[in-house]
Amino acid sequence: MTGRTDARTVVVAGGAGFLGRIVVTDLVRRGCTVAVPTRRPDSVRDLSAVLDDAPGRLVVVPLDASGPAGAVPALARLDPAPSAVVASLGGWSIGPHLLDLAPDAWQRALDDHLTAHLRAMQAYVPLVDGQDDAVYVTTNGAAADEPMVGSGPVNVTGAAQRMLLRAVALEHDGGVRFHEVAFLAAVAGDDRNLDPHAELGHEAVAAAVRGVLDDPGSPQLVRVAPHGRRRPAEASET
Ligand SMILES: NC(=O)c1ccc[n+]([C@@H]2O[C@H](COP(=O)([O-])OP(=O)(O)OC[C@H]3O[C@@H](n4cnc5c(N)ncnc54)[C@H](OP(=O)(O)O)[C@@H]3O)[C@@H](O)[C@H]2O)c1
Repeated sequence: MTGRTDARTVVVAGGAGFLGRIVVTDLVRRGCTVAVPTRRPDSVRDLSAVLDDAPGRLVVVPLDASGPAGAVPALARLDPAPSAVVASLGGWSIGPHLLDLAPDAWQRALDDHLTAHLRAMQAYVPLVDGQDDAVYVTTNGAAADEPMVGSGPVNVTGAAQRMLLRAVALEHDGGVRFHEVAFLAAVAGDDRNLDPHAELGHEAVAAAVRGVLDDPGSPQLVRVAPHGRRRPAEASET
């Protein structure tokens, strides 16, 4: 373990989202400079106020229609230069069954859960490439492993997101390490999860992401299960 996370500048794409805010808060409290590119800069105003006295720094970078590529010049000017990315993009939805899904709903799911990841990678992988222990982390959920009635678009895009990371890692020349942290339960406090069977606490979320940032020996796929619950990979092996 390098233990140098607090010396990094970390770009948290989706840092204004529910899970992203947990990661941002943890990293700023540990001394990191954290940059949050977002289409909704006003939505992180409260976070900026809460983190005002923290040892690290929160830098909000508004995204315009050009998307992540348009944020790169501002991110490249940060000191220290960004060496890590956490992409917590997408979210959650429950709706019609796949066979009843309207074309625009399908397209929206592809845009939000999958294309957003590709565009972030195209912009931010070159940004961190060449930095000491450059690392790119995506978050994902249980829907990438398990089909769920009414969440088919999230199932399909979550599985595709995993393959996107694997393919980009394979094509890349090795200057960046790539990881996915998959959280296998609802995160506590997210009231979009109407009837969570199990929950993950905020510290478990933050520690899992921090662990991958800190440890170059982390596996490419890290699954984070609530205490006492078997992970799908283990279940299928027995
Ligand atoms: N919430 C949970 O309980 C939970 C549990 C397990 C796993 N996860 C995982 O956590 C990650 C994020 O989930 P979340 O619940 O935090 O989502 P969220 O609150 O809905 O936030 C999603 C983020 O994604 C960004 N985004 C959405 N569509 C986009 C688009 N078309 N282009 C660019 N950015 C887009 C948004 O950025 P803007 O700020 O620009 O709007 C937003 O900040 C996902 O990987 C999910 O699988 C969440």
